[in-house]
Amino acid sequence: MTETTPAPAEKAHGKYTRNQPYLSRVLTNRRLTGPESEKETIHVELALEDGMTYTPGDAVGIIPTNRESQVHDVLRALGFTGSEPVEDHYKNQISLLEALTAHLGIGKLARGSVNQYAKLYGENVPAGLAALLGTENKALAEEYVWGREFLDLITEFPGAITAPQQLFVVLQRLQPRMYSIASSQAAHPGEVHTTVRVVRYTAHGHDRQGVASGHLGERAPVGAHLPIYLHENKAFRLPEDPTAPVIMIGPGTGIAPFRAFLEHRQVLGQSGPNWLFFGEQRSVSDYLYKEQFLAMHHDGLLTQLHTAFSRDQSKKVYVQDRMNEHAAELYAWLERGAYFYVCGDASRMAKDVETALLDCIAKGCDGTLEHAAEYLAEMKKQKRYQRDVY
Ligand SMILES: Cc1cc2nc3c(=O)[nH]c(=O)nc-3n(C[C@H](O)[C@H](O)[C@H](O)COP(=O)(O)OP(=O)(O)OC[C@H]3O[C@@H](n4cnc5c(N)ncnc54)[C@H](O)[C@@H]3O)c2cc1C
Ligand SMILES: NC(=O)c1ccc[n+]([C@@H]2O[C@H](COP(=O)([O-])OP(=O)(O)OC[C@H]3O[C@@H](n4cnc5c(N)ncnc54)[C@H](OP(=O)(O)O)[C@@H]3O)[C@@H](O)[C@H]2O)c1
Repeated sequence: MTETTPAPAEKAHGKYTRNQPYLSRVLTNRRLTGPESEKETIHVELALEDGMTYTPGDAVGIIPTNRESQVHDVLRALGFTGSEPVEDHYKNQISLLEALTAHLGIGKLARGSVNQYAKLYGENVPAGLAALLGTENKALAEEYVWGREFLDLITEFPGAITAPQQLFVVLQRLQPRMYSIASSQAAHPGEVHTTVRVVRYTAHGHDRQGVASGHLGERAPVGAHLPIYLHENKAFRLPEDPTAPVIMIGPGTGIAPFRAFLEHRQVLGQSGPNWLFFGEQRSVSDYLYKEQFLAMHHDGLLTQLHTAFSRDQSKKVYVQDRMNEHAAELYAWLERGAYFYVCGDASRMAKDVETALLDCIAKGCDGTLEHAAEYLAEMKKQKRYQRDVY
């Protein structure tokens, strides 16, 4: 089970790592969701160099840059030009403009940054800022940072930064973001595909966007270049036995690795039965990879395909409702040795799906939930229950 915060020691495939990424060219960048959708989910294809290899279940790390307008707003608020020299995290001299563009996290505000920033005031911390410090004010500080960026902090409490280098103490390093790989390399040599929901929201009177998904959504047209690296995830793998049945639960962008699994089984002619559960808001606008999955179903690669469009009717319907509707068959698949995979939202979906799975097992074997828990524990031991949730 991945429970996926990227591991600190990331094993790179090939010679590229997060510190020495590969500058990949964008081959395709198209919207998957329809114009009526509440979401903007995109399909991005990136070029790989010979020798860069991955396996379905792996992820790709993408190193974003901050938006130009956001960088300039920060420079203006601080009264710097951007040409000031600073030392980066490795003591190399770069310009402040480059630091704010590619090295420092000026997007979502971290509580640690608020604390570090306050220290720069010495004895004269403004009262409003002092009220956010210390463990006793943790909840208040969490509330303050939610939906805010560094620019909000320096606008509300100006004057603390007197030297550009102080930004390296206050701000976190700009981190790569991980995306589950949505392609099989056997089907797409030299390419890696991703399925990305562009994070956009309005908070504290300003339109905001996620750093990496915003970069991919707005500043990564075909032909643009992005630093990337491949990240191995041995805990999320198709069964070694190509004839073993596979059940995949992938609502939203959780669909990504299952497109990879299915393409892989298709290209290699693996005969194991495949059952996909996909969920999104509306069938008309949010059915990601609809034509491809319908074709796979038509051709028999997808033995079973069930969708749950939560907002197509007044009462919400989720993937776990579809599992419950097909509990007996699902249990029969498990009894035949099926592998069960979940990808997507960790906060609620993955837990609810596990509850539904336990219910299906209990119903199927006419047993108790305790018995179902033992059954699931055994599946885990056999690596037949794998999750990639974030
Ligand atoms: C192993 C793994 C695989 C992943 N696979 C995928 C994938 O296939 N597809 C995919 O799209 N993502 C995937 N993710 C998530 C992805 O890595 C990024 O976290 C995601 O794209 C957001 O990054 P960002 O830089 O765009 O946003 P950030 O700049 O990191 O901003 C996101 C933050 O904004 C804040 N925020 C978001 N919404 C609101 C709101 N409404 N109000 C206030 N604040 C808000 C929250 O603090 C949130 O954490 C995966 C993550 C992991 C760990
Ligand atoms: N860090 C970030 O900012 C960021 C960026 C991108 C994605 N993500 C995460 O990536 C995951 C996927 O996001 P996504 O927008 O592609 O899809 P999503 O939010 O998981 O939504 C996909 C479908 O799942 C439904 N759903 C909601 N709650 C559910 C539950 N408890 N059980 C089962 N289904 C449920 C949704 O229905 P309703 O919406 O109608 O309730 C929708 O139909 C989420 O964890 C999301 O938070 C995070």
